Amino acid sequence: MNNFEYKNPTKIIFGKDTIEKLTNEIPKNAKVLLLYGGGSIKKNGIYEQVKTALKTVEVIEFGGIPANPEYAVLMEALNVIKNENITYLLAVGGGSVIDGTKFLSAAAVYDGDTPWDILKNSIRTQKGMPFGTVLTLPATGSEMNSGAVITRKETKEKLSMGGPGLFPEFSILDPKVITSIPERQLANGLTDAFTHVLEQYMTYPVGGLLQDRFAESILQTLIEIAPKVMEDPTDHEAASNFMWSCTMALNGLIQQGVPGDWAVHMMGHELTALFGIDHARTLAIVMPSHYIYNFEAKKEKLAQYGERVWNITEGTQDEKAKAAIAKTEAFFHQLGIDTKLSEYIKDYEGTAQEISKRFTNRGWTGIGEHKSLTPKDAENIVKMAY
Ligand code: NZQ
Ligand code: ZN
Repeated sequence: MNNFEYKNPTKIIFGKDTIEKLTNEIPKNAKVLLLYGGGSIKKNGIYEQVKTALKTVEVIEFGGIPANPEYAVLMEALNVIKNENITYLLAVGGGSVIDGTKFLSAAAVYDGDTPWDILKNSIRTQKGMPFGTVLTLPATGSEMNSGAVITRKETKEKLSMGGPGLFPEFSILDPKVITSIPERQLANGLTDAFTHVLEQYMTYPVGGLLQDRFAESILQTLIEIAPKVMEDPTDHEAASNFMWSCTMALNGLIQQGVPGDWAVHMMGHELTALFGIDHARTLAIVMPSHYIYNFEAKKEKLAQYGERVWNITEGTQDEKAKAAIAKTEAFFHQLGIDTKLSEYIKDYEGTAQEISKRFTNRGWTGIGEHKSLTPKDAENIVKMAY
């Protein structure tokens, strides 16, 4: 196992009817900016619950943060923060609203001229403006980590940021919120969380026995509850396990002491930036090709995953590893998620070269757990995913 240091300061408030507990978490003298997305919270009752819980503090609202949070929209919110002397941010939404709020937390205290530099120059935020979240969509784990991904339409870019100062102070996780989530987004959430676990697991063995079993247990739980969540989002037990699995998949715990890959996300983010394909779906497109392309480097963990998660007991290590990739792809298909780029867009020729060029320009010359995948490798992988 590798050495590690681990600190996660986010307080989790989990369970049915917990949104009312917001009252106890926001400082009484705060001036709050309530941030939300395209309006789903106004249709499903979450907005009313939040407003009731915020009765005793001063609140200003900023809605309209789109899926794949857009820099230009966030810059409008930054103006509100400055003009209104906001002291506390509250994100009510999924990964996009939470990530947008993290950007604002960083930008509010940033003393450079252009906040985009936080993303472009990978400036880590040591202390941002304090914020909390009310999660409305289990998927990204953003509610308990310090990372964010921001989109800029103007340049078709989607870049990551983070830093120890960008953990939410608290996150409220009421599994009841999933009852209004459309099927497509439920499938996305399951796929994104599943992939987060695999990015931190599907590398090579380093004797992290506990981390491996944490990871495998999250994967097994997601597989078990996926059909229940899709069929009946009012099933509270399934919803609870779904929500907590998504958070645990990317709150930093399972990645301690083990190598991480994240190449699937790096290539996937480009597909969202270029074509607007949902984040989770880009992962399902890239992942099978990535595992086939890097088969030799990953086959030990692939076979272990096949045995322990999919109960594949027959065959050689190679055969088990290959069967595990097929099982994963079939799982995505079962959720209604296509796994080829050509199933999403017609005009895909040249995509692989474009991604390779972008990686070269950004100096991303060695990605993956061995930092050995070149832009040319990324090009080959994306081509296999056409
Ligand atoms: O905008 P509204 O109207 O709220 O609708 C949203 C949005 O259209 C809707 N929704 C959310 N909760 C709902 C609901 N609809 C009905 N009922 C509810 N309770 O769902 C749609 C998608 O929301 P979004 O927040 O975009 O989805 P998700 O949580 O999947 O977030 C995706 C974003 O997170 C980034 C992705 O790149 C993408 O930009 N990621 C962030 C990560 C992180 N911070 O750690 C890691 C991930 O790998 C990922 O990259
Ligand atoms: Zn993801």
